[in-house]
Amino acid sequence: MSDDILEGIFTKATAGKILIKDRKTLTIDYVPEKLPFRDEEARTIAQTLSIVLKGARPSNLLLFGKPGTGKTAVIKNIIKRLQKKAKELEIDVIVPFVNAKTANTAYKILYEIAEEMGINKGEKKQQVYFTGLSMGEATDRILDFIQKKKKLHVILVIDEIDSLVDKNGDDILYNFTRANERMYEGGFISLIGISNSLTFKDKLDPRVRSSLSEEEMVFNPYTILQLQKILSDRAKLAFNDDAISTAAINLCAAMAGKENGDARKAIDLLRVAAEIAERERASDVQEIHIRQAQEKIEKDTNYEVLRNSTTHTKIVLLAIMKSKNGNTGEVYETYSSLCKYTEQEPLTQRRMTQIVSELDQLGLVMTDVVSQGRYGRSQRIKIAFPSLTIREALKDDPILSTLAMVD
Ligand SMILES: Nc1ncnc2c1ncn2[C@@H]1O[C@H](COP(=O)(O)OP(=O)(O)OP(=O)(O)O)[C@@H](O)[C@H]1O
Ligand SMILES: [Mg+2]
Repeated sequence: MSDDILEGIFTKATAGKILIKDRKTLTIDYVPEKLPFRDEEARTIAQTLSIVLKGARPSNLLLFGKPGTGKTAVIKNIIKRLQKKAKELEIDVIVPFVNAKTANTAYKILYEIAEEMGINKGEKKQQVYFTGLSMGEATDRILDFIQKKKKLHVILVIDEIDSLVDKNGDDILYNFTRANERMYEGGFISLIGISNSLTFKDKLDPRVRSSLSEEEMVFNPYTILQLQKILSDRAKLAFNDDAISTAAINLCAAMAGKENGDARKAIDLLRVAAEIAERERASDVQEIHIRQAQEKIEKDTNYEVLRNSTTHTKIVLLAIMKSKNGNTGEVYETYSSLCKYTEQEPLTQRRMTQIVSELDQLGLVMTDVVSQGRYGRSQRIKIAFPSLTIREALKDDPILSTLAMVD
């Protein structure tokens, strides 16, 4: 590449108006000090937890709510303030916070709890190593630590707790909810579980269920108007003056609010739109950038879902793409022959139909029922995204890459 071209790119990058003044306020990890529309929830939770400052055990607490409704943000803010207050009062409170989706095995969760509690900085024979202990031994070491410390108050937060139960059952939760029976001399442990699955409780053993949900709270999705306020507050932190139009913020709120009142989506949309506007060297973030951002996010999500699907799901999608009229019978035939071609054992038609309806729910395919006059009605299945996306997503798939390339 010639020097001129490079010089051009770099000059362009520094030219144009700078729209974003504080990029970190648009990132996923950023939690603002103020969380509008969550005062009520924060007050109730803070009240429940505040009795720890008097040395009593707070009730266990379960928080539910759809994605992006502020559960994690609210809890993080409360914990921060609680810990500050406890320090002032010289009360021994530890609040280990683990995310069960990132720490994706039961043992890893125990290890992280031990890390956050400072157990692993203590005596060697009390430590919970990264590997090598049984689950029972690891749990015992954590509980012994609390017991030996005397008057140690632990509020254990398990975010995305449904992911723990789905993958590893509820043994850990059983052990922790029962732990107080063996505590004396003022030490205790309370549990806060956070989940975005409303049916999560059904998966628990009744004993775990009743002790874990001593108190419960549901976070409702934000309305479009609420999202407008959240976004305009965030925009003030993130953007320079006049760098984003009110119309753009309102559109962003409307788009995220229409789907499921998800503040994370709304903020993602804002960030991606700002990046697009900057790249175009626009004078401000406009409605068009929000729309382009929506398209980009959708494309990226589809791409990720496709890439991480099972081989059979991918073959079903290819079969739908290659099928002419999209009726179930024909798609199944195409699917079967693609299986044969790739030396995969085909699933039953019933199972394939299930996969199709899962894909329908994810918004990756569209199905409609067409009337065929006196021949009755039949279902038509179509792909709901550009076929280029599937090609890109499957281009490195060891089994399917060549199939994805040809029509
Ligand atoms: N009331 C609010 N005011 C300002 N920002 C908010 C508010 N609620 C949520 N957010 C922002 O939206 C994003 C998502 O919030 P959060 O992570 O708390 O959602 P969640 O309910 O935990 O979702 P999930 O179930 O997917 O984990 C965060 O970046 C957070 O800062
Ligand atoms: Mg969360």
